[in-house]
Order: sequence, then structure tokens, then C-alpha cells
Amino acid sequence: MAVGAGLVASYGTFFGFAGRYLYPARDTATAWLYVVRTIELEQKGSMSYRTPSGATVVIAVQSPGEYLALSSVCPHLGCQVHWEAAKDRFFCPCHNGVFNAEGQGTAGPPKGQSLLRYPLRVQNGLLYIEVPVESLQLARLDKPGHDGCLHPRGTT
Ligand code: FES
Repeated sequence: MAVGAGLVASYGTFFGFAGRYLYPARDTATAWLYVVRTIELEQKGSMSYRTPSGATVVIAVQSPGEYLALSSVCPHLGCQVHWEAAKDRFFCPCHNGVFNAEGQGTAGPPKGQSLLRYPLRVQNGLLYIEVPVESLQLARLDKPGHDGCLHPRGTT
């Protein structure tokens, strides 16, 4: 009887861990972050934005009223890409990686790969991007900021 109970407990634990490994829980909660007034972005053509978690995002004007927010991390080896408006492309200087205006790799090592795309929305002339809430929570723990009340340890 005890052996049977032990086997059931062992197999149950094993399949529990296997299930969590095969089907990990995903935090799909997201939040919208204000980035810039669209009138300012239209004047600049593009800008770099750092999320609270430290991710860098390139936000570019594709045409008046049309915007795109892409991770500036090259999918090849992680260098920073930048927008070249005159050539209508994103460029990675590390190994001459080229991405089209949609962020799809067209030449160099990242050909066939894409820059991570951030959903964005415009409301009342203000541009927002959507980021995972988990990354916001991590950022808050990693960087206490100026306000001692935000410090996770409360040791200010
Ligand atoms: S890291 Fe961007 S092309 Fe190699």
C-alpha cells in the first residue's frame, strides 16, 4: 500500500514538472506606455525609446500618420540597429545587416529574420507602445529610481 502511494506521488510529481516544462505559464498581461507626442515624432522622423525594463525600441514614421515600433536589438548577435530614413531601412553596423521598413531582414546575416515588433496606438495625438507587464515589474525591482518608496527593500 505504501509502495503504491509512493509510486503515485512520484509519478504525479514527475508529470506535474513535465507538464510545467512542456506548457510553461505565460504572463500575457501587457500595459500601454506613453512614448511621445506624434507631432514631435513627425518632426524627428524616428526616435529611440528605452522601456522601463531597459529594452530599446526604434519608433519611426513610415508615412504621415503611420508609425512603426521595433526592437532595436538585431536578431543576429544583438547589436543596436538604427533607422536610415534616406535609405528607408534599418541598418545594423556590426555585420552590415539590413532590414526593410517593416523590420524584415533583407541582407547580411539577419536576412530572413525580423526585428521584434511592438504594438502601438495613437490616442489624441499621443503615441503609446504595448509592453509586457512582467518587464515593468522587473524594471521596478532592478532600478529603484529616485523615490525611496519604490525601492523593493525599503531600506532608504
Ligand atoms: S549583430 Fe546585427 S548583423 Fe550581426
